[in-house]
Formats: sequence, C-alpha cells, structure tokens
Amino acid sequence: MSARPLDETRLCQTLDEGAKVRRSLFGRDIEALDDPGEDRVYAPSAVEQLPDAAPDFVEREDGLQVRHVAPDRHEDLLARDLAEDDSLPPGVDDLPCFFHGFEVPAATIARGRREPPSAAPCRVTAYTPEVTVAQGLEAVLRYHERSTHHPHRFAPGPGRLDWANQPEPFRSFADASRVELPLAGHDLSASWGDLHRTGAVPPHPLGRTSLGAFFELALGLTAWKEHGGARWALRANPSSGNLHPTEGYLLVAEADGIPAGLHHYLSRDHVLEQRWTPPGSDTLARALPSGAFLVGLASIHWREAWKYGERAFRYCQHDVGHALGAVRYAAAVLGWSARLLDAPGDDDVSALLGLDRECDFAVLAPADREHPDGLVVVAPGAGIDAAVERMGLGLAELREALRGGTWSGTPNPLSPEHVEWPAIAEVAAAAVKPRTPALPAPDPVIPRDFDGTGPDPVIPRDFDGTGPEGSAFGPGDGLRAVPLIRQRRSAVAMDGATGLSAATFFSLLDRLVPRPGISPWDALPWAPRVHPVLFVHRLDGLAPGLYVLERSPDAHEPLREALRPSFAWDRPNGCPEGLRLFRLEEGDARSFARSASCHQEIASDSAFAVAMLADLGPALEAGAWWYRRLHWEAGLLGQMLYLEAEAAGVRATGIGCFFDDVVHDTLGLAHARFRDLYHFTVGGAVEDRRLTTRPGYDDSVTRRRP
Ligand SMILES: Cc1cc2nc3c(=O)[nH]c(=O)nc-3n(C[C@H](O)[C@H](O)[C@H](O)COP(=O)(O)O)c2cc1C
Repeated sequence: MSARPLDETRLCQTLDEGAKVRRSLFGRDIEALDDPGEDRVYAPSAVEQLPDAAPDFVEREDGLQVRHVAPDRHEDLLARDLAEDDSLPPGVDDLPCFFHGFEVPAATIARGRREPPSAAPCRVTAYTPEVTVAQGLEAVLRYHERSTHHPHRFAPGPGRLDWANQPEPFRSFADASRVELPLAGHDLSASWGDLHRTGAVPPHPLGRTSLGAFFELALGLTAWKEHGGARWALRANPSSGNLHPTEGYLLVAEADGIPAGLHHYLSRDHVLEQRWTPPGSDTLARALPSGAFLVGLASIHWREAWKYGERAFRYCQHDVGHALGAVRYAAAVLGWSARLLDAPGDDDVSALLGLDRECDFAVLAPADREHPDGLVVVAPGAGIDAAVERMGLGLAELREALRGGTWSGTPNPLSPEHVEWPAIAEVAAAAVKPRTPALPAPDPVIPRDFDGTGPDPVIPRDFDGTGPEGSAFGPGDGLRAVPLIRQRRSAVAMDGATGLSAATFFSLLDRLVPRPGISPWDALPWAPRVHPVLFVHRLDGLAPGLYVLERSPDAHEPLREALRPSFAWDRPNGCPEGLRLFRLEEGDARSFARSASCHQEIASDSAFAVAMLADLGPALEAGAWWYRRLHWEAGLLGQMLYLEAEAAGVRATGIGCFFDDVVHDTLGLAHARFRDLYHFTVGGAVEDRRLTTRPGYDDSVTRRRP
C-alpha cells in the first residue's frame, strides 16, 4: 500500500503528551472534579498485597466484611497489562502479555456476611437514584475520565490476575426447579436477508421448543475451547475478556411446556431455573401482553472488574448492548420482534427479576450480586407495538403480581473474596435509571416507507447480485441465519491481507443505519446517537483513510462542528446516494488504528477498523443513565458488525482497549462533547491452531426432545 501515513506527527505528539493532556467536557474541567483524596493514592496492585492466609477482615455496621489495603508508593509501578490478553482465557500459561506502568488506587477487599436464609418476609432494597441529575452527570463524567486508558497510564486495574478469586462464569440457583430446553436452532431456515425484511419469517408458536432455540441463539453456548489443560466456553453473545457479566431472565405467562413465572437462563446447561411461581394461573396472563414475554438483562460488574478494574463498568455496558443485539437477532430468526422497554426504572427491573430480594441474596458477597439493566419485550412480529404499549400501562400491575406467589433458588457465590472498586460503585449509583415517561417513537431515519422490499432502498436491490432474487441487499443475505449466529467468533489475529470490495463495505454500513421495523435496530427505542469513524485499510475500490458514517442526518452539523476543521468531508466515489458516508482524510490509517487500539495488531491487519463516537452532551443532560445506554448502542453496533462480518465471509473483533484521547485529539474532539466509546475491527481472521474446539453442548443436551 503506497498511501502516506495518516497524520503520524499529530499522533506522535499525542502519544508523547500522554497523561499530561487535560480535558474538559461541557466546559467542566474533568481533572478538577477528581478528588485526589485518600481513595486516589497511587499504589501497586492492591490484590498483590493480600497475605496468603487469614486476612484480617473487620465487620462493618452494614454487615459487609472489609479489609483496607494500605497503599505502598515505593513498589515498582510496572504491572501486567490486563487489557491485552483477550485472545486466550484466564488460566492459560502462555498468555501474550506485555507490561505497562499504571496507577492503582488504594483499595478495599470486601466480602459479604454469610447469613442463613430467614423464614421472615423478604426485605427488598430500593434501586433508585440517590443523586440529582447534575450530580449524576458529574459522576459519570468523572468515571469516564478516570477509566480512560492513556498510552503511558492505563486506567486503574488490579495489576495482576488473582486466580484464587477468579469469578465463576455461570450464575446458578440451587434448589430452583429446572426446565430442560431443547436445542432447536438447527430446524430454523430463515436466511440472513430474511432477518432484515419485515414479515419475511412467519412467527413460530411460543413454547419450550421455540424458547429453546431463542435462548440458544441469544445467550447459549456455541463452543468449548481447550488448551493446555484449560477449558472455556464461548457463547452466542461475546464478552470482553470472555468474562460474561450479563445474566438473562425470562418472564412468561403462557408458553407450551414452560411453567408461568420468572426463570433464570443457565447457559452452561441450557436450562431455565424457575425463580418465581405466580399465585394463580392467570396472574401473569393478566399483566403481560398476550402472546408476548419479557427478557430481563442484569450485570455482575465484579466478573469484569476482577480482570479490568475500573474500566470494567464500560465493558459490562458494551456486553449488555451485545446481548441486546443477540436477543433481537434470535427473535428475528423465529419471526418475533423485540424491543427494549424505555419506561421502566432500574428499580422496576430489579423487582421484576427478583434481584432486590435480600433474603435470597444475603448468602452472597455484595460484589457477586447482579445489577438490573433492562427489560426487552418479545412478541410476534406484528404485535410488538401493542405489546410495548401494554407493558407501559401494565408495569405497576406486574410488580404487584410479583409480591405474591412463591420464590425459590439460592444464588451461587462467584468468588471467595473480592476487591472493591469504589469508582464502579459510584458510577453504577449515579447511572441508575428512574422510571420515566416512554420516549416517543424515533423518527424514521430514512424518510420513506422502507421495509426492505420497496423500490427505493439505500442499496439497490440487485446489489452485488449474490442473494436469491428479490432479497439480495448484502452478499451474505442468501445464507442461513442460524449457522452464522452459531459460528460467530472474535478474530484473535487478522491476516493483514484479506480485503473487502467497496460494494460489500457499503452494504455492511447500510445495515448500521436504523430503519423502522427492521432488526436489530428496532430493538432500541431511541434515535441513533453513536456514529462510526472508519479506518479503511484494505477495500477494493475505496481509498485508504479516515471516513465517518452518519447514522442519522441530525448528526451532520454537530459532527462537522466537532471534528477537525481540516477534514475534507468528500463523498466517496461509488457510495450509494442514501448512505451518509464521508471521507475525512485519505492516507494509511493502519499505524494510527493499531496505536490507538492499545497497539493491538487486529486493528491494523484488518480490512477496516472502527471507532464509535457518541455525542455525550444531549444524552447525558437527559439523565446520567444515558451513559449506559450509549454503550449499549455501541455494543449493539458491535453485535451487528460481528454477524455482518460472518455473512460477508470475514470475521470481526470488539476492541474495548483503546487510548481514548489519542483518538479524540487526532479527530479534533479534545474539547467536544463527542467521545469514543468502543472500537471494532473487521477482516480476514487467522485461526489459533493451538486450541481444540468442542461443541457447546454434549449429548445429554443435544438429545433432548423438542
Ligand atoms: C466489549 C468487548 C471488548 C473487547 N475487547 C477486546 C480487545 O480489546 N482485544 C481483543 O483481542 N478482544 C476483545 N474482545 C473480544 C473478546 O475477547 C471475545 O468476545 C471473548 O474472548 C469471547 O470470544 P468470542 O467473541 O469468540 O465468543 C472484546 C469483546 C467485547 C464484547
């Protein structure tokens, strides 16, 4: 490739200045908000200072047992980079780690008081915001700043992996009755293109078989990997570091072969664990929309914080976005629609998933508990609007229903001991969502009657010509959806050679633009707020360089105002008219993409890489919980890129490790409201041949009868 390097000088300046760069958002000086008090004393890894035996825990009034770890300023600050070793799982000996200096705050090791379950009525905790909107905004900005990775200073992390306390990857509820689900995904014939056309897949009846396929394709295991005596599972949904903080629940009234109630999905065994049984047969049927069910999502921050420290809260939110995408695609394969409910507060979600039940969770250390994320209503394709509306009215009724009935199941502890990350606790508290009036439906981004079959799509219908007549929008549209979902993997290395045609690239980008009723974007009840900047490396017919895709016309002015004034804003040759893709600067962006993505070669050896920009301003001013939602949107974009890459015959990888301000400074965003939330890369994968791959489930599961 002969193109000149992209603005190396600017990048090097940024790298050299490193941590000295000061930032402000909305006119606030972020550094000034950061209280350099006791909590912020820099020390080497707190975990390393734990004595081998009999740590001296003290019981606090709130029942939490804590041990404060004194910081030591004199130890070597060099510590393992915990963000770089995602290609192999915890426990594998030859992890490709490298070293960085970084600062770690003084920390508290905490564990819960073990209380026997009591027969008294269950006390519940309210999950409501305890801060004003302004305080919440400041807290999330403060968190965002301190969880920023810099070239010379990573966000505070544990320093080394504490294997003895590695969190258990599967939550399970002892003594809950189980429903064994069949693996029914292979019987579903929908094509990848069908998933993007309204009404193309007739809705499957709701029952044990269809729910078996649904959970398998949304959150189920897709493979086991083995290497050097270690074994780890991969799932339909990806997760930073394969740590899987996201838990899934089902609230269902009427489904053939599934008892009405609340169930937790245990992906390891592909079973539903019944947490709650309603008092009467029609209690839930009265409260839930007919023919619909709810999927609940919740996160265990500790699972990610164990490895990534303070940045973990961001990764948990990305993972929620990926899970939302996985849920939406799984629903689409079955002819169902799915939409995240906008109105419920976290307190509602917590109550409806039973996460607030102190008597059940008292056996756990607080860090092993789940934080409520959201509720997704799933309904037969055409019924989704009515189901969403009904849920808006029926929330209080549903909460009331859960006050009666019977609860069962005791959650498993995940780690013997925990490191407390106060910054995560603070941002989690600041970003709690209250119940809000439902947002009005977003305006269609493409202002025409687009349903994927009409005469005027962004990409002409005969685009690339590889799909079956009348359904070809992308090159993989004729492929069956289920194998694509099952084969999704992260590339651990890219070959530095495979490219894509510009036509395939345009087609893939077109899918990132929301259209009413078209999956997966119809799962989000808000208009797009995250816009990809693309580092184009190897596209046949498109010059290498920096590009931006506006996912909504409304983004044009703010982006143009925020991004570097010298950018060209050209329309690339051959770009379909309706696709709002602009070339910012031509040049070889490989070295920049790699350096900005924590020096990970997957970002430069691909066909293209992505940085996802979100306008924090208007979103956060509506409420600090939007911080989580913006990451969800970025995660959903990521899930889409993963699957579109598989459909195009290549592979993708999410990249949570990036130097935020290197990207901001290079794009001219240092003082703007836009922030880079997530990176991605798409290209030709190199298989890691050291690993053995086994099926996600053994015979005891695969032989289950539908
Ligand atoms: C939010 C997020 C961030 C990630 N960050 C990185 C990264 O920085 N580097 C990397 O090699 N892989 C990264 N990954 C890929 C994960 O390591 C991968 O999803 C996980 O190991 C599970 O493997 P699978 O995607 O093949 O199921 C990330 C994935 C997610 C969802």
